[in-house]
Amino acid sequence: MPNAAPTLRLEGVTKSFGPVAALRSGTLVVQPGSIHALVGENGAGKSTLVKVVGGVHRRDAGVVELDGEPVDFAGPAEAKAAGVAVIHQEPASFPDLTVTENIFLGREPLGRFRRIDRRAMRDKASGLFRNLGVDLDPDRPAEGLSIADQQIVEIAKAISLDARLLVMDEPTAALSAVEVRRLFTVARGLRDAGKAVVFISHRLDEVADLCDTVTVMRDGAHVSTDAVADVTPDELVRRMVGRDVAELYPKVASTPGEVVLRVEGLESTGTFHDVSFEVRAGEIVGLAGLVGAGRSEIARAVFGVDRYDAGRVTVGGRPLRPGDPAAAIAAGLALVPEDRRLQGLVTESSVVRNVSSVARKRLARLGILLPDAEARLARDWSGRLAVKAGALDALATTMSGGNQQKVVLAKWLATGPKVLMVDEPTRGIDVGTKAEVHRLLSTLAAEGLAVLMISSELPEVLGMADRVLVVREGRIATELSRAEATPEAVMRAATPGASRSDSRTEGAA
Ligand SMILES: Nc1ncnc2c1ncn2[C@@H]1O[C@H](COP(=O)(O)OP(=O)(O)OP(=O)(O)O)[C@@H](O)[C@H]1O
Ligand SMILES: [Mg+2]
Repeated sequence: MPNAAPTLRLEGVTKSFGPVAALRSGTLVVQPGSIHALVGENGAGKSTLVKVVGGVHRRDAGVVELDGEPVDFAGPAEAKAAGVAVIHQEPASFPDLTVTENIFLGREPLGRFRRIDRRAMRDKASGLFRNLGVDLDPDRPAEGLSIADQQIVEIAKAISLDARLLVMDEPTAALSAVEVRRLFTVARGLRDAGKAVVFISHRLDEVADLCDTVTVMRDGAHVSTDAVADVTPDELVRRMVGRDVAELYPKVASTPGEVVLRVEGLESTGTFHDVSFEVRAGEIVGLAGLVGAGRSEIARAVFGVDRYDAGRVTVGGRPLRPGDPAAAIAAGLALVPEDRRLQGLVTESSVVRNVSSVARKRLARLGILLPDAEARLARDWSGRLAVKAGALDALATTMSGGNQQKVVLAKWLATGPKVLMVDEPTRGIDVGTKAEVHRLLSTLAAEGLAVLMISSELPEVLGMADRVLVVREGRIATELSRAEATPEAVMRAATPGASRSDSRTEGAA
């Protein structure tokens, strides 16, 4: 029997941006009825390949075929029309439009007199959300949606296209366990209907769980393609990184010193309640809990980005003025936020500028010649975090997702903080760099930095923290010592009402 043509075939596809060869030899063959993982380090060229398939970028050379037919998309609309749905790593919704309008933008259902049939459109959107099992108001504006909800909108859009090929570029990075499970159900449904699915993730446990085939990329080129059952995660990592990865959780023992950050009775009506805790110099305190438990909100209030209704924050014994991030920075606080695009990174600015943006005020005050000091600072921290950028004056917007995350970390570390609060510090970062970030946090703590670490990856919290505070529904439910903090103990404390466990925070990272 002759084999059916693969749904997608890329062979030797190249794409350069000026001197940067983002894709040197993109090769990927995806069969119908298959979920195909695409893995590789930050900057390996995964998103670039996806953007060529989705018509965002035009390839320089090579072959792209859909169901055996050569294609060359001049834009995303052409790709969509050909049945290619892409959920991009950085979803871009139109803030002023409603959720429904975002889903159907450019292909609104028409009614009589070729007018847009708003009711039909809205009903379809509700139907999509119902199928996805999410509770999202189709009439609300996209502005202010969480990253998770933006992803859901993108997924709904992709499904409504009735595509033959669905490509998901790190769709799970911002999703909660329940949402991940739902997404996987949707992906499996599409596979069973004979569609082809491409899934990009840095979480190899997800790859093992969902995918049948896995392709590894490194430095813009194809390395290998195997059945998932035929390769071990360690082997995949070795192929991605080109070497063995050092221990993922290099915890350095340290003796906690003075209390640096003290939070007392912090209260924000409807968000969190009576939150009290301390972080000592040299200590890493983990804030564990389910997505939505209020951990990010607590950190934002402590830092002064959000206001709170009652309570007190002191740094080094001095009370901190509420709602004043500049005062917080001056007192030695730093917050690496969860959403780098909204809160962390000026994408239209250079890497140097981004890294030194907070620290440069101090440089100027010390009378240091700015451009030099600025470049040195940026180079130091970018180097310590292995930021891969063509040049430090490259625009942050052209960097791969994981590298953007590293720039945000570098920027806050460059301020030389006493207390570092990190919210999902390794989201979107590849395994090799993840180990480096962990080592860095550990080393800085051993040098006396007080670290508050929010992470939805339980292995990360358990691997790095000296103490774990478990947040449940806006309250600190339990405090566990490093020895007491088993996955079961944390999950029991984190889950409202039940002792049901949650695979998202249990899986190996
Ligand atoms: N528009 C652009 N201009 C210049 N360079 C770019 C552009 N887009 C991507 N690059 C570069 O191409 C390389 C590959 O980036 P890409 O985003 O494809 O990586 P990735 O594998 O998706 O990484 P990640 O896991 O971090 O998302 C990187 O070095 C990146 O800086
Ligand atoms: Mg990417």
